[in-house]
Amino acid sequence: MAGRLDGKVALITGGASGMGEAQARLFAHEGAAIVIADMQEEKGRTVAREIEDAGGQAAYINLDVRKYEQWEAAVAFAEETFGGLSILCNVAGTNVRVGFEELTIEQYENIMDVNLHGAYRGCRAAGPALGRAGGGAILNIGSLASTKHGGSSGYTISKTGIIALTKNVALGYANQRTRCNVISPGHVDTPFIRADEAHSRNDWSTSLDNPENYERRLAGTPLGRLQTGEDVAKAALFLCSDDADMITGAVLNVDGGAALT
Ligand SMILES: NC(=O)c1ccc[n+]([C@@H]2O[C@H](COP(=O)([O-])OP(=O)(O)OC[C@H]3O[C@@H](n4cnc5c(N)ncnc54)[C@H](O)[C@@H]3O)[C@@H](O)[C@H]2O)c1
Repeated sequence: MAGRLDGKVALITGGASGMGEAQARLFAHEGAAIVIADMQEEKGRTVAREIEDAGGQAAYINLDVRKYEQWEAAVAFAEETFGGLSILCNVAGTNVRVGFEELTIEQYENIMDVNLHGAYRGCRAAGPALGRAGGGAILNIGSLASTKHGGSSGYTISKTGIIALTKNVALGYANQRTRCNVISPGHVDTPFIRADEAHSRNDWSTSLDNPENYERRLAGTPLGRLQTGEDVAKAALFLCSDDADMITGAVLNVDGGAALT
């Protein structure tokens, strides 16, 4: 049976975990060759190997989205390995969950560097390759924090910027038929809000392992369950497929209605 992404090549940052991993697996299932680009090498290589074991095509490359030269290398790697690049998913993200005055300047700069400038660098580095492929699709990841402010301040500033970035890229690349859209997820049960990892520190006061946090997030989700990486991946598949051929500059909430509350 024909896959919805047959013949496409997708580079997915943050592809070693959570939403990026779910997108990698679903996109591969739908026929795309996948470049998983992340800083968690062991996890990323495992995902790539499992995709190949399931009959798909995947490769892993180390990418720190803060380094433009690594971006250039990742795009070249996609073209050399799979013969082109047609989809870029900027999924990598970081957060520091402290109050406005507690956030250090270094922490603020790092959040902006990963979440916003990292995605900008990706759009610029991948643009020519997407053009060479005859036009492609870029997906950025926003958040409830793209429209609800006052929580973790560096994070909301970066995720609000993602909306402006997406619209600028959509206009900037329309002439080469490359589209650019945003998905804003709600509360997604991934390591980002459950585990304690270098890019997303959580303790008992913030982790989903704490039933109070889980219930608070659930209460803020009208459709009555937290989202999974797969929920987001299904919407990502649509936006990155030819079914969304005339959709660019759009913001799609995949949040069970959380932005309504
Ligand atoms: N989980 C949620 O509830 C939620 C909600 C809204 C938005 N988001 C956003 O969704 C995106 C994906 O998050 P997730 O929930 O899948 O988290 P996750 O922790 O499972 O995955 C994030 C991935 O990003 C990678 N990463 C971090 N910094 C990087 C860097 N400098 N270069 C390359 N890779 C880097 C990590 O190694 C990790 O694999 C993030 O942008 C996050 O801000 C998450």
